[in-house]
Amino acid sequence: MLSAEDNKRLTEVGAGTFMGELLRRYWHPIAAVGELDENPVKPVRLLGEDLVLYRDRSGTFGLIDRFCAHRRANLMLGIPHTKGLSCHYHGWRFDETGQCIQQPAERRPFCDKVKLKAYPVKVACGAVFAYLGPKPVPELPMWDLMTWDNVEHEIGFIPLPCNWLQSMENAQDTAHQYFLHADFHDYVLERLGRPDLKKRFWRPGDAAEERIQGLVEHEYEVNELGLLLRAAQSNKDKEHPDWTIGRQVAFPTVERAGNDLEIRVPVDDTNMIYFCIRCHWLPPGEKSTQTKIPYYQVPDSIGPDQKIDWSVLDVNGTQDNATWATMGPTVDRTKEMLGDSDRGVVLYRRMLKEQAQIVAEGGEPMNVYRDPEKAKYIHLAAPEEQHYWEYQKLQQLSRNRSFNKFSPIMRERVIKILGEDALKDPIY
Ligand code: FES
Ligand SMILES: [Fe+2]
Repeated sequence: MLSAEDNKRLTEVGAGTFMGELLRRYWHPIAAVGELDENPVKPVRLLGEDLVLYRDRSGTFGLIDRFCAHRRANLMLGIPHTKGLSCHYHGWRFDETGQCIQQPAERRPFCDKVKLKAYPVKVACGAVFAYLGPKPVPELPMWDLMTWDNVEHEIGFIPLPCNWLQSMENAQDTAHQYFLHADFHDYVLERLGRPDLKKRFWRPGDAAEERIQGLVEHEYEVNELGLLLRAAQSNKDKEHPDWTIGRQVAFPTVERAGNDLEIRVPVDDTNMIYFCIRCHWLPPGEKSTQTKIPYYQVPDSIGPDQKIDWSVLDVNGTQDNATWATMGPTVDRTKEMLGDSDRGVVLYRRMLKEQAQIVAEGGEPMNVYRDPEKAKYIHLAAPEEQHYWEYQKLQQLSRNRSFNKFSPIMRERVIKILGEDALKDPIY
């Protein structure tokens, strides 16, 4: 349970707020490059700021104020040029530093006096990342699976009408898997008229006796990246990779779950984007030949009328998304009742407060990268990393896993690995 004041301090993301200043020390993904291929200008809202992301005709990306410096026209309708973006209203043109470089309707142009707010962006693994914090700009951390060349990458994302923290608290919540992704999953299948597909939580590729049977112990270790989570199930000993390797949460918004990099993007106080960079393994010896990384938006499972679309809820990813979104815009943490299984959540909140305090006192928080050598490959522990191709093959063909069901790569992979016939039945 938190005081109302603490709840507010932990969830506000605007400039000048306790948490907003901490979150501004990190890079956040704001688009898939593929979106810009379709439309070179994208309105973006990040940390409560309205911005526009564009790619000019020379390929330079810019992230500038959403509203034109002249009479505040919305630059989401702007026109990309060889250099910069021009406002569609009277043609003022801006470059990626926000500098005005043309005022075609002015007899006496005063471009040198006009500059919009602008932020640095970087492109990596098919995604565009933005940094809204103070200079010097830190390195963009390349989390391990963004660098792999023996996989096909894709990006799946979903905007959710809730504060980012209720989603991030899920990363430390080891216990939910055995209920949300097991009992509730079975209930969804019942609602869909497919009780024959019911399961108990398992990872594809696990032998029947390996299937997870209940959580008996969990441990959280604070390390230089964030939190390492270990879990032991009643039918496994502590030699199992769930315990020996554990699962890494990278402070403050990143989690590696299997072959997914799950990133929470704080849009504003009551909106977020769940942004996943996903990997589909290739058979041993094969290298990726992808020239473009596909992207997709995951469908909503809850309609505006609060009607539940059960057909979207038979996968892990949307079960999580629906849970966070239906908790409301900002969870009232003054009313929660925490137990022993919430130790990870408590620890994470404490880290957030400690790191935000460091920023408030003028220091640099954890997990900000200054050394390019260190930033170019950062290993995030995951039990799955020990696994072999046969395991990975089943993992990626499992429809219920993460967002696989919506994946543009999935169908192609199923045909390639298992043949056309495999698509006739749902794959679980
Ligand atoms: S409002 Fe943008 S040029 Fe006039
Ligand atoms: Fe989950």
